[in-house]
Amino acid sequence: MKQIPIILIGKGHVGKAFIELLVEKREVIKERYSLDFFLQGIFRSTGGAMLPKEEASHLFFFPDNCLESSPWWQNGYSFLDAPVNKLSPGVVVLTTVSSMETGEPGFAYLQQALSSGWHVVTADKGPLINNFRCLRREAERQGLSLKYSTCTAAALPSVDVALTSLAGAEIIRVEGILNGTTNFILSRMEEGVSFEEALVEAQSKGIAEPDPTRDLEGWDTAIKILLLAQTIYDRDFQLAEVTREGIINLPLKEVQVIKRQGLALKLLGIIKRHQKDISLEVKLVPLEKEHPLYFVRGPEKGISFTTDSMSQVTVVGGKSDPRGAAAALIKDMINIFSPM
Ligand SMILES: NC(=O)c1ccc[n+]([C@@H]2O[C@H](COP(=O)([O-])OP(=O)(O)OC[C@H]3O[C@@H](n4cnc5c(N)ncnc54)[C@H](OP(=O)(O)O)[C@@H]3O)[C@@H](O)[C@H]2O)c1
Repeated sequence: MKQIPIILIGKGHVGKAFIELLVEKREVIKERYSLDFFLQGIFRSTGGAMLPKEEASHLFFFPDNCLESSPWWQNGYSFLDAPVNKLSPGVVVLTTVSSMETGEPGFAYLQQALSSGWHVVTADKGPLINNFRCLRREAERQGLSLKYSTCTAAALPSVDVALTSLAGAEIIRVEGILNGTTNFILSRMEEGVSFEEALVEAQSKGIAEPDPTRDLEGWDTAIKILLLAQTIYDRDFQLAEVTREGIINLPLKEVQVIKRQGLALKLLGIIKRHQKDISLEVKLVPLEKEHPLYFVRGPEKGISFTTDSMSQVTVVGGKSDPRGAAAALIKDMINIFSPM
């Protein structure tokens, strides 16, 4: 049984769901993969706790609600102050919300983790947007993994499919419904509900965030398609290179006219490759019934890869919530320590 320490940075919706799911899955993961993950440290914006290995193994998953009152909790203690390079390394799991412009605070955390010999699994897209190749190179140099499935549509397998299942094939086009909120709203509008009403419904069901602007303006899809392109083509792209449209103030009439034509309006993230030219866009596209993403409805997501030698490969589904995000983090951890 391999014992693997985890340091979790960020204990919000996803961080908490991650701890809960890890506790729930602990025995299965041990049995199936011979991997014994234990939580050695947790950090949030206000402070952190690092447990000695013996205590961490013994306590295993410290009850989440007791952490701040535990003897290990230190106000103002940051991951950057933690002596991680002196510990037997494991995996740093990042669930913070970093700036899309600077990548901080997550970028500094990921650099610290990698330079200390720890693998990295991140749900936070911020550090990857402008520093993707730099982090990837650093991980490669150190012989470590940098995993980020959660950043490219969470429980919907996307990066893994591109890198593993389509290995050797040339990916010449990617089309993805990568944002559950916008797809839910478009599906409701097809059913005759206005944009404003559909948005309120999405928020009341917990599908849309309290401030859904980033989703509705297409930024979330743009970031996901950017990360996928950087992954597939190992090239740095800028967010400004992604041509983007959103769904704010989309008239109900427009969706209904498209529906009467037998089509379904979808907000797609698209990567098109023509020889060395690669273009990235987020676009409202009316899909025909024959399109593999036509039937992706409600908060569901889907991604379709067109390749030179494996034809078109499509994946649909995946939960769009903190538990789905947590499951994707755990999947990445398992795949680091128990590769196929
Ligand atoms: N929600 C989803 O379904 C989903 C799906 C895929 C990806 N994601 C991504 O996952 C990440 C987390 O989302 P969330 O919904 O869990 O966010 P959240 O609830 O706002 O949690 C963020 C956590 O980061 C901590 N934090 C903030 N600044 C920090 C710092 N400087 N050092 C250490 N910790 C810091 C916060 O600390 P405090 O607790 O002290 O405030 C909080 O615990 C985001 O990047 C999001 O885009 C989320």
